[in-house]
Amino acid sequence: RKHLVSSADLTRADIESILATAASMHDVQRREVKKLPTLRGRTIINFFFEDSTRTRSSFEIAGKWMSADTINLSAKGSSTSKGESLRDSVQTINAMAVDALVIRHNQSGACQQVAGWVDASVINAGDGTHEHPTQALLDAYTLRSRLGDLDGKHVVIVGDLTHSRVFRSNVLTLTTLGARVTVVAPPTLMPAGIASWAERDGFATGWDLDAVLAGDDIPDAVMMLRVQRERMSGGFFPTPREYTVGYGLTRPRVEALRARKDGVLIMHPGPMNRGLEISADAAESPNSVILDQVSSGLAVRMAVLYHLLAGEETAA
Ligand code: CP
Repeated sequence: RKHLVSSADLTRADIESILATAASMHDVQRREVKKLPTLRGRTIINFFFEDSTRTRSSFEIAGKWMSADTINLSAKGSSTSKGESLRDSVQTINAMAVDALVIRHNQSGACQQVAGWVDASVINAGDGTHEHPTQALLDAYTLRSRLGDLDGKHVVIVGDLTHSRVFRSNVLTLTTLGARVTVVAPPTLMPAGIASWAERDGFATGWDLDAVLAGDDIPDAVMMLRVQRERMSGGFFPTPREYTVGYGLTRPRVEALRARKDGVLIMHPGPMNRGLEISADAAESPNSVILDQVSSGLAVRMAVLYHLLAGEETAA
């Protein structure tokens, strides 16, 4: 495999293999081993046309811990700010014989397009509202480290589905691993055509969060999504207050969930809008694995870089 653009391209065997490699990175992640020589001589460019804290820093650290040369570029500070096209920018970088381009872009499909323009491996670090495949892999890794095999486990994903690339990649990855997924959103934030899509990919949908949380199918994990107000040109409906009442993971909802399943996991990809989609109580409860997700991101991104870039001669 040369690129990682969509979670739809990963078979169950591919995902299992990446997660197994991520687990084997444990010693490096715990800093018991400082660096692996695996990617010595490889060059990785993190080209971020949209802001990021977790994804960009973890790809940079992952590359460095595997001895690759890593460079970060952002739209501001690159020739993009002078009007250079995406194609010219990535082909310019490609001409420097780089091995991988990790791309974040605000346009859905941008990474697929870049993959057709360059020789380097392209890794999608989030493209518009389309996909964020390494986020789904790190979420699967986090879930498996707490719940074991995901076959039959129930994951509820809640929030701004219309604008969420995290949701799109997660339904693909989690259902491929055998999890049962229910997605919940207010009708105004439910993507058009989701019913046929849910039927094709095998997940359930709902708009009544309390009914889903109180249903017979008790959640093993609840993943809250960020309300992406920067992508809402027409305003945000329902109002923030109504949203929190109907769809926020508030303290009463966490207590009700814990009463049903003590070990229920609370997840959020970050960054969080505290007080909107998730309360401080929920984010900091003993059930929260939000910072575990961040740590998992390092191991999983090392694993993805390994799978795409480590040739036979350098494989550990
Ligand atoms: N989850 C995620 O993609 O976070 P960043 O935007 O900080 O990278």
